[in-house]
Amino acid sequence: MPAIVLLGAQWGDEGKGKATDLLGDKVKYVVRYQGGNNAGHTVVIGDQKYALHLLPSGILTPSCIPVIGNGVVIDPAVLLEEIRGLNERGVDTSNLKISTNAHLITPYHRTIDKVSERFLGKAKIGTTGRGIGPAYADKINRIGIRVQDLFDPSILRQKIEGALRDKNQVLIKVFNRKGIEVDEVLREYLEYAEILRPYVVDTSLLLNQALAKGENVLLEGSQGTLLDVDHGTYPFVTSSNPTAGGASTGSGIGPTKISRVIGIVKAYTTRVGSGPFPTELFDEDGEKLRSIGGEVGVTTGRARRCGWYDAPIARYAVRVNGLTDFFLTKLDVLTGWEKIPVCVAYEIDGKRVEELPASQSDFHHAKPIYEYLPGWSEDITKAKKLSDLPTNAQNYVKFLEEISGAPMSAIGVGPGRDQTIVVKEFI
Ligand code: IMP
Repeated sequence: MPAIVLLGAQWGDEGKGKATDLLGDKVKYVVRYQGGNNAGHTVVIGDQKYALHLLPSGILTPSCIPVIGNGVVIDPAVLLEEIRGLNERGVDTSNLKISTNAHLITPYHRTIDKVSERFLGKAKIGTTGRGIGPAYADKINRIGIRVQDLFDPSILRQKIEGALRDKNQVLIKVFNRKGIEVDEVLREYLEYAEILRPYVVDTSLLLNQALAKGENVLLEGSQGTLLDVDHGTYPFVTSSNPTAGGASTGSGIGPTKISRVIGIVKAYTTRVGSGPFPTELFDEDGEKLRSIGGEVGVTTGRARRCGWYDAPIARYAVRVNGLTDFFLTKLDVLTGWEKIPVCVAYEIDGKRVEELPASQSDFHHAKPIYEYLPGWSEDITKAKKLSDLPTNAQNYVKFLEEISGAPMSAIGVGPGRDQTIVVKEFI
């Protein structure tokens, strides 16, 4: 079995950590291919809860080799803190592999992220403030710093100097902030070099050699389809490509090696930060979803915006990612509603629209058209197979599958590792 991609089909936070972790036992490599410590996976193993931001969730599966691919932006301070935290809890991280080509987040990226958001005022994106956008901007602008630069002190100095030449002007003259000292950044980053060295390899070569040997590779997306810089609700997006194409670019694995693309989709919808969200709820149902679903950001602690399932979004995710399967998560959160609305299409300027509109302005005033499905009140958290679910819950799943355009191959009925109904094995 070649490479499999696992990614968020909505705006992130769909419960990918649980899905990756479930597959972790069957794959040799778990690879992150984009994003940085803006992500947040929560993985529950037994009575232990782990919140991961930068490390692939496969780090918690001893048989698995976790990889941070070239498409990721790494804040070394955060990475080392995460490694230290896991080691303290007895998790071995010595297997970790980091790409020589991954870019680094530096203190000036974090500062610029925060000050530029403040400057945008009401028009702010609602970033996580972790320096992600500015680090990717430098990468595209060809003034970024890569992991491999850490091992060549004179190149590292030149690159930091080059990047700070403009940035300090902007920080001081536009944003009225203090400039950042080259030497300070250099000193800090050279210290990281020695600690990170044992982990750093050519991850593209490693992964392609593994595939050639017939080993399984899982490519794990962060954020979600609608936060993709190309296919998402731009500009209210992250600065990378969580969609399936990004899995190839961000790992150095060719698209012909990818056999399956699994979209994680929540049984309802959430998003963090600004931007359009047609099924968003501002009433007590929204509050209820938030509190039952524990919809608070793992990374930022921000309350997530909540709404009903949006089928046009799911169909869009199938289209732009070529999804072969869905992994439906958090079905248990919907227990207790008499009727569950599902958005099947939008009304835009008096017309029924089945697909996500091509124009962002239209999407901003798309109104959901709902169908109402009968709910259930039975506890479903112990269900092991589809037939264990109450009929109305089974029908809800079937309905979502029909209107979303790909099979619901796994269904999450609780946060625990074993609280998943596997309809069709992924591997
Ligand atoms: P950035 O990735 O920090 O630049 O933030 C850009 C947008 O992506 C903001 O709306 C964030 O709230 C959102 N975002 C970034 N990471 C995540 C995530 O892991 N889950 C959900 N939203 C995210």
